[in-house]
Amino acid sequence: MKTRKIKSDVSWLGVVDWNRRLFDALIPLPDGTSYNAYLVRGIDKAALLDTVDPAFWDVFKKQLEDVETLDYVVSLHAEQDHSGCIPQVLAKYPAAKVVTNAKAKGMLMDLLALPEDRFITIQDGDTLDLGGKTLEFIFTPWVHWPETMCAYLQEDGILFSCDFFGSHLATTDLCVTDQAVVYEAAKRYYAEIMMPFRSIIRKNMTKVEALDIKMIAPSHGPVYDQPAFILAAYKDWVSDAVKNEVVLPYISMHGSTQQMVDGLVNSLVEHGVKVHLFDLSVTDIGKLAIALVDAATIVIGTPTVHVGPHPSVFYASHLANALRPKLRYASIIGSYGWSSKAIEQITGLIPNLKVEVLGTVMQKGLPTVETYTELDALAAAIAKAHREDDHVAT
Ligand code: FEO
Repeated sequence: MKTRKIKSDVSWLGVVDWNRRLFDALIPLPDGTSYNAYLVRGIDKAALLDTVDPAFWDVFKKQLEDVETLDYVVSLHAEQDHSGCIPQVLAKYPAAKVVTNAKAKGMLMDLLALPEDRFITIQDGDTLDLGGKTLEFIFTPWVHWPETMCAYLQEDGILFSCDFFGSHLATTDLCVTDQAVVYEAAKRYYAEIMMPFRSIIRKNMTKVEALDIKMIAPSHGPVYDQPAFILAAYKDWVSDAVKNEVVLPYISMHGSTQQMVDGLVNSLVEHGVKVHLFDLSVTDIGKLAIALVDAATIVIGTPTVHVGPHPSVFYASHLANALRPKLRYASIIGSYGWSSKAIEQITGLIPNLKVEVLGTVMQKGLPTVETYTELDALAAAIAKAHREDDHVAT
């Protein structure tokens, strides 16, 4: 794709990666992604903000053909999908300097072997005057690495946010055309990447909301020319409020756990609780992560394999623990043939979840009438806890 103008003397450069389906060899990308860079030309100087994944240097190089001189490469984030072409850019423009913060400088030297004399180190709030275009640097750590920052183009009100507010979405749209589609992609991105840093992001939100933002230009997904909707979405996601919802990831091997899950879902629905059900043998873990953004409760369902939980449940539990969602309640249900330590093992996997456990139901073999009575009682306890909790929106 050719470069695209987003404002006078501000251009999008980058790559739409239509076919990428996995990020960090971990995160599913059902809708591909993009790596966005931006070129800001002042009267005196020109600055490139970030680069693209190094696999796409050939594409990026062509987009830079018309850029005769470059004074600065601003690095907002050291991860290689944005920094990976900085060595080639520095080779193409021998006078250009990398402008970044001290933490990012160290990381770029470690990750890309950049020489120290190519850096200009800036502090939080510093500005870079390009001549009629002024970049102000806003430190926004932990979105999602410790060195991450934003740059605010004062004259145009554009916030270059790198991963912050980004979405893994391959599209030819330069700006958002369908807010519902981008909302879903941005929520997936937040859930998988940002959610563990919710409290710090809340502080970062206060910083960026003090700016007069007319446009947010992230490094993944389309540009927000009406940024209010993504700012409101982030405020909701990082708040302490949860919804009257249960996330229920589970596996069933021979049907016993499946029957228990079905019984619990029926009871929860009768009690007015919404359920997000995920059979871990088929689900995309990104969908599970999205549901964890808002839910008040997680119920983990597992059969017993070699005394412990099924390995897929083990993985999902570890993931939920790592993502640190704002869950308030938890429960474990499942089945076993002769003995089980699944409850103890799952409990040991989720220390980061600051939840109240509302009971567990483990059944030897098929569920009985008594099992369903226990599941009804569990559903009633969940519904009651949601009703009585001020953090749960009902
Ligand atoms: Fe898009 Fe954290 O890199």
